[in-house]
Amino acid sequence: MNLTILPALLGHGLYGVLGVLLAEVARDCYHLAGHYWSPLIPWHNLHHKAYRPDLTKTSEALYRRAELLNDVPEAVFMVAVTALAGWLLNPSLWLGTAYAVGFLLTSLGRSQGLWADTDLTHLPGDLGEPPSRWIVNRTYHWRHHFDRTTAYFGGTFTVVDQVLGTALSFKNKTIAITGASGALGTALLAELSQKGAKLIALTTNPDHSFPDGVEVVCWQLEREAQLSQLLQRVDILILNHGVNVHQDRSAEAIALSYAVNTWSVWRWLELFLHTVSESKHRALKEVWINTSEAEVSPAFSPLYELSKRAIGDLITLRRLDAPCVVRKLILGPFRSKLNPIGIMSPRFVAWAITALAQRDCRNIIVTINPLTYVLFPISELMRSLYFRLCSRANSTQPN
Ligand SMILES: NC(=O)c1ccc[n+]([C@@H]2O[C@H](COP(=O)([O-])OP(=O)(O)OC[C@H]3O[C@@H](n4cnc5c(N)ncnc54)[C@H](OP(=O)(O)O)[C@@H]3O)[C@@H](O)[C@H]2O)c1
Repeated sequence: MNLTILPALLGHGLYGVLGVLLAEVARDCYHLAGHYWSPLIPWHNLHHKAYRPDLTKTSEALYRRAELLNDVPEAVFMVAVTALAGWLLNPSLWLGTAYAVGFLLTSLGRSQGLWADTDLTHLPGDLGEPPSRWIVNRTYHWRHHFDRTTAYFGGTFTVVDQVLGTALSFKNKTIAITGASGALGTALLAELSQKGAKLIALTTNPDHSFPDGVEVVCWQLEREAQLSQLLQRVDILILNHGVNVHQDRSAEAIALSYAVNTWSVWRWLELFLHTVSESKHRALKEVWINTSEAEVSPAFSPLYELSKRAIGDLITLRRLDAPCVVRKLILGPFRSKLNPIGIMSPRFVAWAITALAQRDCRNIIVTINPLTYVLFPISELMRSLYFRLCSRANSTQPN
């Protein structure tokens, strides 16, 4: 083979891939216009009306009309954008045009009743897995239809939602937060209230006064199970309570650190995962665990590090098979009772956490320590690979 043509081939291949990506971005832009540009809204509404929550069609006639008036023009737009880009920039972008023509032909065929199957993200039936991170699966797209129509716009890739911050909507979600009376708990309640969530403060401090509109529920360490009924109606559980014994290394300090930072968090997590029992729960329910950057960096408090690393490792192991989204919060020092010399403000940290969650970060890192942005992803990847290779989801029980 003549190796001199290799760079040219690679260049064509790269432009071809860019053409396909451009077609997808054009699809998502057309979709956005279908929600915000009045001439397109009635046509796009047909698409929304064509499905029930189990993604079966409401009527064959409506489905075909929606294909003709929504999906066909959308595919024509994809063809036009990629054809123009290929003409103006580089002919290899026309691979995106060929890709878009495929969608045009299938949507035309569906609109004429030539075949009954819908596309992959609208196939009927139960949602079998949590929303995916990069490529839109049925569960991800289901939320666009039945959670919030002004979020989750991605058609094939989630990148447009990540840029717009529409990969997670808090509007009307019931969100419960432990450690609610603390610095970050208070800041998260304020931030999420602004984003339209219904809030439950889970607190061990019955004397603390919370803002109006927040439902307050008291709980006690080791009696987490008393609130399992409440968790049924919670969409997002944020496990945020924590304790720092600083330099203490007494037996009591060891017991307290693990009791609060590890085992209580673990019990809450398991109770919540048991509430993920229906198809729609896999789309809507989430649990966030505030483990801290002490998972990978020194916190100058050995028991804090040990207990936070223990829960961090357990989460990494458990989320390999979790039935819903599990996020970790990897936070650097912020000012609170637990860390009076923290540098960041809890308000900023709460804002950053919600902004990154809306971009679907599964490991939300907010810190001033640049090393954590490098060390945590590497450590998390290595540990999760090791756990995946050396453990099984359903090991046989001993006789
Ligand atoms: N501050 C930092 O620099 C930093 C950095 C990384 C991660 N974090 C983590 O962020 C989370 C929030 O901490 P914060 O900084 O906001 O501290 P904070 O103001 O002290 O809040 C911690 C809250 O945890 C709950 N809590 C404390 N002791 C408890 C116990 N024995 N049993 C059950 N709940 C208990 C209390 O909430 P209730 O009274 O409402 O139950 C307390 O207000 C913690 O998990 C912490 O480890 C903090």
